[in-house]
Amino acid sequence: MNIVVGVTGGIAAYKTVQLVRLLIKAGHEVTVIPTEDALRFVGTPTWEAVSRNTVTTSVHDDVAKVRHVALGQAAELIIVAPATANTIAKMTVGLADDLLGTTLLATTAPVAITPAMHTEMWRHPATQANIQTLRERGVHILGPADGELTGGDSGPGRMLEPEEIFDAALALLTPQDLAGTRVAISAGGTREPIDPVRFLGNRSSGRQGVALAAEAAARGAQVTLVAANISADVLAGARHPLIDVRTVGAAAELGEAMRDAAASAAVVIMAAAVADYRPTSAAEQKLTKEEGVLDRIDLVENDDIVTGLAASRPNGQIVVAFAAETLTDADARRERARRKRDRKGVDLLAVNLADAAHGFENPDNAVEVIGDGGAVVASAEGSKREVARAIWDAVLNLSQQHSTL
Ligand code: CTP
Repeated sequence: MNIVVGVTGGIAAYKTVQLVRLLIKAGHEVTVIPTEDALRFVGTPTWEAVSRNTVTTSVHDDVAKVRHVALGQAAELIIVAPATANTIAKMTVGLADDLLGTTLLATTAPVAITPAMHTEMWRHPATQANIQTLRERGVHILGPADGELTGGDSGPGRMLEPEEIFDAALALLTPQDLAGTRVAISAGGTREPIDPVRFLGNRSSGRQGVALAAEAAARGAQVTLVAANISADVLAGARHPLIDVRTVGAAAELGEAMRDAAASAAVVIMAAAVADYRPTSAAEQKLTKEEGVLDRIDLVENDDIVTGLAASRPNGQIVVAFAAETLTDADARRERARRKRDRKGVDLLAVNLADAAHGFENPDNAVEVIGDGGAVVASAEGSKREVARAIWDAVLNLSQQHSTL
């Protein structure tokens, strides 16, 4: 997506560097348009390096390409961060005395601004009236937050954090087709304790479940994410005001958390890799070779959580299971997935090939979603976020057929 980031002259401009990095990392094409004043805080080389695009403030550069309108016309989203009181006033009257001003007038794309200024300036009737006018024109006002300001004082006027701006701005482009829907998602892999230092586990990183949670929240859902042993960097992908994370360890704990979350959910997705068996009892002390108690581990079967959830689901609730299979023959894999879907009594079963390039521990995934009558109702290949998008589309499709959500 083509995104223009306008930067105006406030100290918070240093945080916008991180915002641009997040947008680039998410695969967007970013053009930064600073004002002259903004360059006093962060210079052109920094903006060019992080955005990987040329940066200019002037309408007189690159005139042959009519840059002052071209950028606005090509933009699919404009974010002004930080937006100073001066820029907000200029936007209100439609001043176009620099490249950012002309770009803002030439665009029909959604515009989001993140005000940053001292509390007195924010509260001033002139600023408040300008904000009101911009809001009425459809400009999205993100923040400001209430917090510590540059002078050491504190109050409303602080720019939102880059991650918050990133989420809020991208949400503007995402259809809110899950708004208000409560969903429960499990992710990661359970660990069944053997003794205080050992466990039976699996290689699930939790990335697919985290992507499902992030996509649902971006589309407006209220998410409970039951996270089993997910590393902090993967779990960071679920940082969103609409996601409530509950961390769990073993299968029994995950089952309890999911039953609790599912009670009020319209959609339940079991993306976690759950251990089928656990040691009959976990030793309280570390098992040692000296005592010769490490040569066998007695196992007892765990309850099948998703089967239980599907069997006792409230009316209209949609239950989705996952299956990671190593069968490379697509037909055989599909057949096994159909049997698994029937056995578990779920509405949808997302099956993926778990090999060296797909599934566990990989950023990419490829799934087929098996629905009513064993039909393949969706398929997706790509990043786990893209796969998550396709799964939610399939859930929405099904709910429209059942008119549930
Ligand atoms: N699952 C579960 N509880 C378990 C085991 C699995 O809820 N005790 C869920 C997983 O979260 C996943 C689905 O069931 O959504 C499929 O898991 P899988 O391990 O493929 O199913 P199994 O019935 O164990 O089949 P297999 O013998 O192929 O492992």
